[in-house]
Amino acid sequence: MDNRGTFGSRFTATMAMAGSAIGLGNIWRFPYIAGKYGGGAFIIVYLLSAVFICVPIFLSESIIGKSTRLGTFGAMRTLAPGSRWKWLGLITVITPLIILSYYSVVGGWSVEYLFKAVAQAFGTGAAGAAAASVAGAAGAAERAEFASFISSTWKPIIAHSIFLLANALVVLGGVKKGIEKFTKITTPVLFVLIVVIMFYAISLPGAQAGINYLVDADFSKLTAEGVLSAMGQAFFSLSLGVGTILTYASYMRKEDSILATGCFTAGFDLIFAMIAGFAIMPAVFAAGIEPGAGPGLIFETLPYIFTVMGEQSPVLSGCVSILFFLTILFAALTSSISMLEVGVSYLVDEKNWSRGKAILIVCTGCWLLGILCSLSFGPLSGVNIMGNSIFDFCDKLASNFLMVLGSLLFVLFAGWKMKKSILADEIAPDGSSSVKITLFKILYFLIRYVAPLAIIVIFITNLLM
Ligand code: PHE
Repeated sequence: MDNRGTFGSRFTATMAMAGSAIGLGNIWRFPYIAGKYGGGAFIIVYLLSAVFICVPIFLSESIIGKSTRLGTFGAMRTLAPGSRWKWLGLITVITPLIILSYYSVVGGWSVEYLFKAVAQAFGTGAAGAAAASVAGAAGAAERAEFASFISSTWKPIIAHSIFLLANALVVLGGVKKGIEKFTKITTPVLFVLIVVIMFYAISLPGAQAGINYLVDADFSKLTAEGVLSAMGQAFFSLSLGVGTILTYASYMRKEDSILATGCFTAGFDLIFAMIAGFAIMPAVFAAGIEPGAGPGLIFETLPYIFTVMGEQSPVLSGCVSILFFLTILFAALTSSISMLEVGVSYLVDEKNWSRGKAILIVCTGCWLLGILCSLSFGPLSGVNIMGNSIFDFCDKLASNFLMVLGSLLFVLFAGWKMKKSILADEIAPDGSSSVKITLFKILYFLIRYVAPLAIIVIFITNLLM
């Protein structure tokens, strides 16, 4: 079991988990949906769901992994021998690999845009120039260029392959020399980069409107849909229900506290999302553009802002755009390696495969599915699965369905199947203060009743919507 590897300290374990949590979800979804559903009001709901639902899921998931020092399948087999739980656990090995396939396509886009930033070539391609001369509307060239890039056949596939290869190289190094070494540097760097960009963005004239968009608490905008979005966003953002937290926790040292790591990860993730909002929205408002979510925000709106900025100050625009796409790339990478590790650790633990062989097989599978996802923006755009393109289908299947199911599985397992003493040992071991014991009682109640009920509500609503 020792050859599985261990994170060297609580700090590095936390950086790896925070790196998994901080990703594209923080950068392209949070700022937009927070503003859309009432800014500060949305953030309050987000905070409440993080504390009352996500932290209990996080703890359940990580204690299952940490107490057994095994991945999802092996952990459930060990904790509930002879039961069928392990097969349910297998679902959570498959989910992150589906996510990795399409996430890696977007990771590839950020590779391409980092190159563009270095070459200062936003909105200057043939498609972009033509659109700019015809439409003349703000950002038309950048929109046309992005559309033409993602719908082409080879370029996005090559970028997707480069991104996946980078993942393979990091994970090949193992837990200590690969994942730990990479995330203990990139996660703090990511934070510094986004803070630098934020300071720049809030210094722009007209930035105040963007700040207001994000923080003004408008409860009238907080609809039922907004409340559900806040919960869903908290799930996705904290990488819950897909076995990544479980797998990373299985590499923690026995003496490192799960509670501290969990609270820090959740806090860091939210702070990062807020800073990303302050880095992006002021720039969007300063440029007089309507904010949007998803790929459009980072691959169309911001390149347009960089183009405009470049007309006044090419050097500044060059530096900020390179920093920005580097941030996106690092954020995506620290998340995607955690997805890859789930599949790899399963094959290494359960099938006794070497890391290299496991990575090769998992990456090949994700590469092929990713190619289909990439082509679904172009040559395969006609392929329709239940009303969705291949890319959207994978995204919806994973984030609206499998992630929620996985989270439910973990809290039910921890709350109703696992021995209570295993949870107590982690949170309030024998001899703990009465405060810790009370805290454990509250958390146990949340794990057993509150979190499962809330997850079931989200699940049913997702199915009906
Ligand atoms: N939390 C990541 C993000 O915000 C996404 C992710 C999902 C990472 C599932 C790992 C597992 O982008």
